[in-house]
Amino acid sequence: NWTTTNVVEEQVALIREQVGDKRAICGLSGGVDSAVAAALVQKAIGSQLTCVYVDHGLMRKGETEQVEKDFVAATGAKLKVVDAEKRFLDALAGVSDPEQKRKIIGREFIRVFEQAQLEILQEEGPEVAFLVQGTLYPDVVESGGGTGTANIKSHHNVGGLPDDIEFQLVEPLRQLFKDEVRMVGQELGLPEEIVQRQPFPGPGLGIRIVGEVTKDRLDLLREADAIAREELTAAGLDREIWQCPVVLLADVRSVGVQGDGRTYGHPVVLRPVSSEDAMTADWSRLPYETLAKISTRITNEVADVNRVVLDVTSKPPGTIEWE
Ligand code: XMP
Repeated sequence: NWTTTNVVEEQVALIREQVGDKRAICGLSGGVDSAVAAALVQKAIGSQLTCVYVDHGLMRKGETEQVEKDFVAATGAKLKVVDAEKRFLDALAGVSDPEQKRKIIGREFIRVFEQAQLEILQEEGPEVAFLVQGTLYPDVVESGGGTGTANIKSHHNVGGLPDDIEFQLVEPLRQLFKDEVRMVGQELGLPEEIVQRQPFPGPGLGIRIVGEVTKDRLDLLREADAIAREELTAAGLDREIWQCPVVLLADVRSVGVQGDGRTYGHPVVLRPVSSEDAMTADWSRLPYETLAKISTRITNEVADVNRVVLDVTSKPPGTIEWE
């Protein structure tokens, strides 16, 4: 019979059997799946696990701190944080095209993560043989159902180490759906903010700024996004909406008036959607009071944003994200 306690016990035993006295690495993305996978493996093999978090500077307000502090406090996991904000911003400088942004962020991410893997290998030796991944059941089905024993090759160009590092995969969530993963995370004592987090794209806020990604624009969007999230939570709407991207139209300006002065600022778009699986979505009919509150607060509290607009497009034809 299915209970989260049974799932945890069963997986802990399986992980111990698979990993033995070797060591494992787990990349944390800030999302639910990698956090729960890491917490399970941590419970099974403790300090034989090292977690890696690449801070690309494109996270929302407070999310990096949640991984660095709350995740570590809840699990006792060993965490290596790589501060790569400057590297990502440098690579993104001057780039406005969405696909190019995605490519750059993906490429830099792999490079930084592989470098971190190498450093862990150098510190801990060849005992590091496993890579933990938060693959869920729907991912397994979608990709045609592998066996979970496939090796991942990591190519690199650093002297003194083998050309390919091969890792065995540990995928403790392969039989679970998202809601079950959340329950397992709760059972493992992970913070609510991590377990109940709504979907957030890998390229982060980098694809929620229409136009070039800069530090100033990211800071501005982080503030606007934090206000929207706060008010949606306060209104008790977290479970009703699938996610609510806040998008900064960085290349658009409009005239406004604030206090006794004319402004010439940027709009942000609210994109609240309801969905079952993100393949299709409808725009959420949020209460006017909630929309009004979000709009008032953002225009009052975020300098340079003088307009809040609502996206009322379903998917299709619109995608959930703007880029
Ligand atoms: P779209 O915009 O295609 O988004 O309707 C569907 C869902 O996928 C998320 N998304 C991503 N997630 N890496 C991710 O991990 C990505 O590059 C990416 N792009 C979109 C999006 O937030 C939505 O939940």
